[in-house]
Amino acid sequence: MTGIKILATGAAVPKALVTNEDLAQIVDTSDEWISKRTGMKLRHHAKDGETNLDLASQAARQAIDRAGIDKDEIGAVIVATVTGDYVTPATACLVQKELGLSNDIIAFDLSAGCSGFVFGLETMRGLLATRDHKYGLLIASELLTRRVDMTDRGTCVLFGDGAAAAVIESSNDGYASVMGVDGNPDMIKIKSPDGYIEMDGQGTYKFAVATVPELIEDAVKKSGKTFDEIHHYILHQANLRIIESIAKKIGQPMEKFIVNIDKYGNTSAASVGIALNEAIEDGRIKEKDTTLICAFGAGKTWGAIVLG
Ligand code: ACO
Repeated sequence: MTGIKILATGAAVPKALVTNEDLAQIVDTSDEWISKRTGMKLRHHAKDGETNLDLASQAARQAIDRAGIDKDEIGAVIVATVTGDYVTPATACLVQKELGLSNDIIAFDLSAGCSGFVFGLETMRGLLATRDHKYGLLIASELLTRRVDMTDRGTCVLFGDGAAAAVIESSNDGYASVMGVDGNPDMIKIKSPDGYIEMDGQGTYKFAVATVPELIEDAVKKSGKTFDEIHHYILHQANLRIIESIAKKIGQPMEKFIVNIDKYGNTSAASVGIALNEAIEDGRIKEKDTTLICAFGAGKTWGAIVLG
């Protein structure tokens, strides 16, 4: 099976930091409640006209610079997002212009909620097999705080803004994926044209702790490896308790899980990409390591990929 190699990554978050204490000034909540129930401490909020395109482009530039590639050899741009600056045109098309990429490319946005980065990797894998160009650029960029009701304590404490990017090429490195969808608007939804996030928090929690361990098991089995042979687990940063429960269920130590929910909150599609970027940057993930990336979200959607 043809796999993919992530040549380099990048990430970007808005400047403004919002603490749990800041949120306690706005709604009836506390640092203690948020920390204990979610593991979150900080998140970034886009302000002063910061756009989805700003974050997407910043993350993408970093990934392209680090990959050291000729950007004319990028043949596909996917932006996973549900919070583009426009309904149309796609953020991916704006990125093409902003970064001065070739016109001879395919570029589109992908809507898969928090599973966007994982669905994007799988989609890019297929696209690279059919394109003449060597590289694909995957970006996940979300400004979910645009769609958060800042008077609803049940959701406003959970989400942050951010973007992640990856330069990808086809490769014969190990690749195994399991994806799924069970159409259900009630887990988390944002109504058009200008609705706020509506979420079944407990339903999502139960779904995650019951289903994600099986999803991970299926992906690991498909890769021909064992849980122990996976060096790093990168799970969607929705709730620290969800990650801890999954770690326990699959019998793997928390040290193998990349966790940064305390700094960014839930950045939706960007969450696993930002975590991946951070762990590469700080040297935890090394070139030959095997990494599992897993996310779940609106749709319902879910996916797990073993890379390497
Ligand atoms: N501060 C203080 N109290 C709060 C807050 C808050 N921010 N939010 C809710 N509460 C209250 C509730 O009103 C409730 O009060 P009550 O008992 O008087 O009715 C109490 O806390 C308990 O509420 P629960 O919903 O039972 O709290 P729970 O422990 O389930 O935590 C949470 C809620 C954090 C949302 C959790 O269910 C969760 O993380 N679920 C997953 C959410 C998720 O992953 N969403 C995104 C998925 S898709 C995507 O990532 C885009």
